[in-house]
Amino acid sequence: MRKPAARPRNAFYAQSGGVTAVINASAAGVIEGARVHRRHIGKLYAGRDGIVGGLTEDLIDIAAESRATIKALRHTPAGAFGSARFKLKGLDQNRAEYERLIEVFRAHDIGYFFYNGGNDSMDTALKVSQIGATLGYPITCVGVPKTVDNDLPLTDCCPGFGSVAKYIAVSTREAALDVASMARTSTKVFVLEVMGRNAGWIAAAGGLAGEKAGDPPQVILFPEIAFDEAAFLARVKQSVDGNGYCVIVVSEGTKYPDGRFLAEAGTRDAFGHAQLGGVGPVIAQLVKDRLGYKYHWAVADYLQRAARHIASKTDVEQAYAVGRAAVDYAVKGMNAVMPAIIRKSSAPYRWKIEPVPLAQVANVEKKVPRDFITADGFGITASCRRYLAPLIAGEDYPPYRNGLPAYAKIRGKAVKRKLRTDFVV
Ligand code: F6P
Repeated sequence: MRKPAARPRNAFYAQSGGVTAVINASAAGVIEGARVHRRHIGKLYAGRDGIVGGLTEDLIDIAAESRATIKALRHTPAGAFGSARFKLKGLDQNRAEYERLIEVFRAHDIGYFFYNGGNDSMDTALKVSQIGATLGYPITCVGVPKTVDNDLPLTDCCPGFGSVAKYIAVSTREAALDVASMARTSTKVFVLEVMGRNAGWIAAAGGLAGEKAGDPPQVILFPEIAFDEAAFLARVKQSVDGNGYCVIVVSEGTKYPDGRFLAEAGTRDAFGHAQLGGVGPVIAQLVKDRLGYKYHWAVADYLQRAARHIASKTDVEQAYAVGRAAVDYAVKGMNAVMPAIIRKSSAPYRWKIEPVPLAQVANVEKKVPRDFITADGFGITASCRRYLAPLIAGEDYPPYRNGLPAYAKIRGKAVKRKLRTDFVV
């Protein structure tokens, strides 16, 4: 715990990594939280395109945004200030980046840093929290959790996940009705590819579409379970023979037993992650080649994580709450922490927010436990369903204008630059 600053200091908020339907709700939580802590927080700036805005001194003046815009962020998907896949390396590998960030912080008297992201971003947040000591600049750094992948440890779930889970469960249920209607004379197999990288939480959420054994989806392919082609094809055939059709939800991170992804786009992002995508058509083609069934496939891709129109109310509330809590922690002088969601009960779902150390969160991936997946590896168990069900609960529809959701757009007024030097990222 660091002593709270004696005079107000400015704050820097940045969005990081893949965006979600509710990351802006966290932004609204941070912004509205900062407003009630004026004794501690002077101005609040956002990084244009995340940490890249910090490094290039491209800061957005939040004070120039209207209260109505900030309120509307709560129902606006994606990153209103711009996000970035940009990883600060270790201090010893690229000291220049840290020195630059501190130079920008110093120039704008930034004493608080709120970093809204997933695993890699929590690692960056931790490193930035440490540079205060190393480079002699006091900075209080708090991570704000976000990732559709739901793979951060120590928190019951990650803001962003509940809404994707709801979208995937709803879409699976709806598409299953379609294929069931057509199956007798036409399409027999529908494949839905979902995100999640190495963790099968989103794929598992597809399982919520069914209520009893045999309901679609009849097959879920998880990254946690090595792909067994023969068992998979047998299961698809069994479903088509028995139900007339088969619905498959496949995670983009599904791997062969030797660890290779079924579909890898061949490119890598700044974090060194393989870009995934395309496993849906691979699976559909396999079914066609080996079993001869007519198929349709869909890649949910950005549609799933941008789908604010069908967001989970629980998710929106949690996203906002972690933003507010982050500010409360920072003004109390809590450094290098992240607000985590703690489940108090599942039915009814009750939760609270508590701080956890960034050091225990950074770079740890929480995968779907084996007892959440059925013994055959193709479905979800009752305990998984109990865990997931409350996370998709409740609707929080955005306002509509002319038949379309009315989303916020920020003015994005730039803060006057103070440094003479440029920084190329
Ligand atoms: O990290 C979240 C995530 O949505 C993953 O599930 C997905 O693989 C990845 O982002 C896609 O990232 P990008 O939008 O940078 O291609």
